[in-house]
Amino acid sequence: MSDARPPRSLGYHTATVRNMLLTKLPDSLVGGRLKSRHVAQAIRIEELTLESAVWPREFDGLRIAHLSDIHFGHLLGEVRLMQAIDAVRAVRADLIAITGDLIDLSAHESPLLFERLALLQARLGVFVVLGNHDHLDHPRSIVRGARDAGLIPLMDESVRAGGRDGLLVAGIDWSKSIPGCGERLRRCGVARADLLLAHNPKAFVAAEERGIPLTLSGHTHGGQVARRGNRRHNLVFTQRLSAGLYRRGESNLYVTNGVGAWFPLRLNCPPEIAVIEMRSR
Ligand SMILES: [Fe+2]
Repeated sequence: MSDARPPRSLGYHTATVRNMLLTKLPDSLVGGRLKSRHVAQAIRIEELTLESAVWPREFDGLRIAHLSDIHFGHLLGEVRLMQAIDAVRAVRADLIAITGDLIDLSAHESPLLFERLALLQARLGVFVVLGNHDHLDHPRSIVRGARDAGLIPLMDESVRAGGRDGLLVAGIDWSKSIPGCGERLRRCGVARADLLLAHNPKAFVAAEERGIPLTLSGHTHGGQVARRGNRRHNLVFTQRLSAGLYRRGESNLYVTNGVGAWFPLRLNCPPEIAVIEMRSR
């Protein structure tokens, strides 16, 4: 991937038109109230303790802050971003995972975003994978911005967090399909990571086959509209793994609602930051 800005894709132009018709226009017609109500919702801190017999004993009790789908742009600006960042910092996690859709549309938003994300620090690092929205404009600049901010972007690769015997963290770039996610996971070059970051929850199919103890994903926004008391009854019809916690054998998947969105409506589906404590059995 070259550093030069590629020609803007059809996907970028489609998303721009959608943003104009479904977000900016309705919001301006009601005097900005859609946006102000959207960002007035409190960000919920969802705390979970998960266990797995294949989670490394040396990292028993590790606390991970999971932030996703910021969609920095028109709906989620600097003030809301700082609310999310302050919430993550207050958690004092050992590791921070950001699972994609950092920006909503235009990569020119990213310098301010990364200036603020540079405030995030964790003992084992702050890891980033890209989502579909990060690919709309100039993904290379998102990766470079993350790296320059001291974050660790993972593009179909894995690293040991915390040194030579550290936690094996793999991260895959955006892929739409189950086979595509599986292929990206193969490119990471590890038989079984301890932690997988993937924007698309469909990556869990391959993660489960490999016995990866924890996969963190976003993308669905929890459907944005869900039935009260049952977050899995939501408006996501293209994903079986749409919201919350899934467990198969010793493998766990957490699909967060994320903090942002491209559409200004959430019902029984609050913006959230997940805090996951991992236990080995
Ligand atoms: Fe998203």
